[in-house]
Amino acid sequence: MPLIPMDAKPILTIKDMSIVFSSPDEADIEAVRQVDLTLSPGKTLALVGESGCGKSVTARSVLRLLDRNARIQRGSMLFAPGDEPPTDIAKLKADSLPLRAIRGREISMIFQEPMTSLSPVHTIGDQIDEMLILHERLKPKQARERTVALFDQVGIPGARERADSYPFQLSGGLRQRAMIAMALACAPKVLIADEPTTALDVTTQAQILDLLRQLQADFGMAMLFITHDLGVVAEIADEVAVMYLGDVVEQGSVFDVFAAPSHPYTQALMSSIPKMARKADRVRLSPIKGTVPAPRDRPEGCAFTSRCPHAFEPCATVRPERTALGNGHHARCHLLTRQPAEVVA
Ligand SMILES: Nc1ncnc2c1ncn2[C@@H]1O[C@H](COP(=O)(O)OP(=O)(O)O)[C@@H](O)[C@H]1O
Ligand SMILES: [Mg+2]
Repeated sequence: MPLIPMDAKPILTIKDMSIVFSSPDEADIEAVRQVDLTLSPGKTLALVGESGCGKSVTARSVLRLLDRNARIQRGSMLFAPGDEPPTDIAKLKADSLPLRAIRGREISMIFQEPMTSLSPVHTIGDQIDEMLILHERLKPKQARERTVALFDQVGIPGARERADSYPFQLSGGLRQRAMIAMALACAPKVLIADEPTTALDVTTQAQILDLLRQLQADFGMAMLFITHDLGVVAEIADEVAVMYLGDVVEQGSVFDVFAAPSHPYTQALMSSIPKMARKADRVRLSPIKGTVPAPRDRPEGCAFTSRCPHAFEPCATVRPERTALGNGHHARCHLLTRQPAEVVA
């Protein structure tokens, strides 16, 4: 198991990053606004929020896999795997050599739908062999040995025989394991997992979370884990960033954020976690009222205004600053800075 110093230096530092989509007949849309995220070796940062909040756009930007109409409008993504000066991924040319050297090798990604990464017309073994031959310059026989070892490691039973299966011959859970094996083939330093368990049944979901935790300990990689479920965050992450409509509205250690959720959106997400204690009853969730508006309908001020039970005068018009809550925990909400007189009113 790799030894990770307690104060390991961040490996990826996303700073002040905004992503804008353009369309031929409408104004530009800012889908991600001035996001700051830090990933460290051996640690998991969860990015949580409802569908449409900008989680996948943020994740894909790290590998520069954004749609053609997207651009990184501001900010930097400093990747610092060793002692050399960091590479700013935001500044690399699309499909340039340095970018291709990072993508899939140093930073890799797993998705909700394994068929995003797996080819339907090749056996799973061949697909991973090919990566190892190409990137790690292994001979075909060595590659197959590594592939079988990887399949073992991700818990694919009968790994050697299974390597000859096509993705369609596998269950959803096994396909997910094959995709994880592929993502880990080159021992990446950063793994981005975009809702990797969302499409799975609860039991398989728990197994895949266990597997990712175990693999992280074995490989010592940094992980960016995306989910819409705060319950999953508690299971897997060290730090959490809560995203709403392109903004990180609250961020901190999982412990601090769960102990004292400070943004009304985080509080609303918390109250929608199913309570294990009440599993026997019909679980009563308090779903958050309304839906996430489209980015073009975002209020000028706090993005959550239209759904916030506490919205008051400045919320619709003034974007809240970040308020530090101690120990690196912070949130963007006017409630945190309002004067006592306003509370009375
Ligand atoms: N190619 C695109 N053109 C315009 N808007 C887009 C494009 N891709 C994503 N978006 C918008 O960006 C926002 C964030 O999307 P996404 O990151 O996929 O959300 P999440 O992963 O949190 O569900 C959404 O409002 C989505 O409609
Ligand atoms: Mg998504």
